[in-house]
Amino acid sequence: MRAAAARSARIADMEGAPMARRKKIYEGKAKILYEGPEPGTIVQYFKDDATAFNAEKKDVIDGKGVLNNRLSEFFMNGLTQIGVPNHFIRRLNMREQLVRNCEIVPLEVIVRNYAAGTMSKRLGIAEGTQLPRPIVEYCYKDDSLGDPLVTEEHIAAFGWASQQDMDDILSLALRVNDFMSGVMLAVGIRLVDFKIEIGRVFDGDYQRLIVADEISPDSCRLWDIETGQKLDKDVFRRDLGNLTDAYSEVARRLGVLPQSNVTKPTLIN
Ligand code: C5P
Repeated sequence: MRAAAARSARIADMEGAPMARRKKIYEGKAKILYEGPEPGTIVQYFKDDATAFNAEKKDVIDGKGVLNNRLSEFFMNGLTQIGVPNHFIRRLNMREQLVRNCEIVPLEVIVRNYAAGTMSKRLGIAEGTQLPRPIVEYCYKDDSLGDPLVTEEHIAAFGWASQQDMDDILSLALRVNDFMSGVMLAVGIRLVDFKIEIGRVFDGDYQRLIVADEISPDSCRLWDIETGQKLDKDVFRRDLGNLTDAYSEVARRLGVLPQSNVTKPTLIN
């Protein structure tokens, strides 16, 4: 306990104890949102907490937040480069990034390239089966209901998003899928599936949709192309080994390992 407290204090020192200075807006399972320094901005703090199965399984994984902060920065910057609008403004420090404040559409947008997870369970398709085309699914964001799968009929009838929004969401999801699949393929990783969240921003009277929340191995399934080794949150969900090692491997291949994880110089005799 004392060692953990000392470690937290050290981390807080290193990062300028952000929690003491900012007004907390919301605390989720893996992130905390604070009021940003300018209107329309939010500070997104990445925790080390890992949860699975709607928080039935929980743990604290040293270094996960630092890795996800870096990886989400990397993916969002890449999306900006190819013109996919997203909430990322800049990284502030090891665990925090400044993002645009937006109204989150209450949907989890899942894109699948290969069967896995709940799709395999629901439809009895073996994990790893390539799908005939990317399949986009929508879940209603409500932890108390376990984020149930919904159809576009539910979304329209309950007013969660308009038909125009749904066209834009589908287009954003497929663009993110193409980008992420290519980036991962280049480093020998298969993008099996992922989840994104969508935010609504207002520029005067005009509203548009952007990619929000995070893109990290917490919200993707990533398998090594050669060995099939899992490099994502399934390592935690299914007790397959060390989660930080898996995420560090993704970061290393993409060239985005934080400084602290770079190996020390060794003495050559
Ligand atoms: O569990 P399921 O197979 O439906 O997950 C599909 C994808 O969406 C996985 O990559 C998983 O990590 C992600 N997901 C998520 N957050 C959720 C549900 C799923 O990031 N609440």
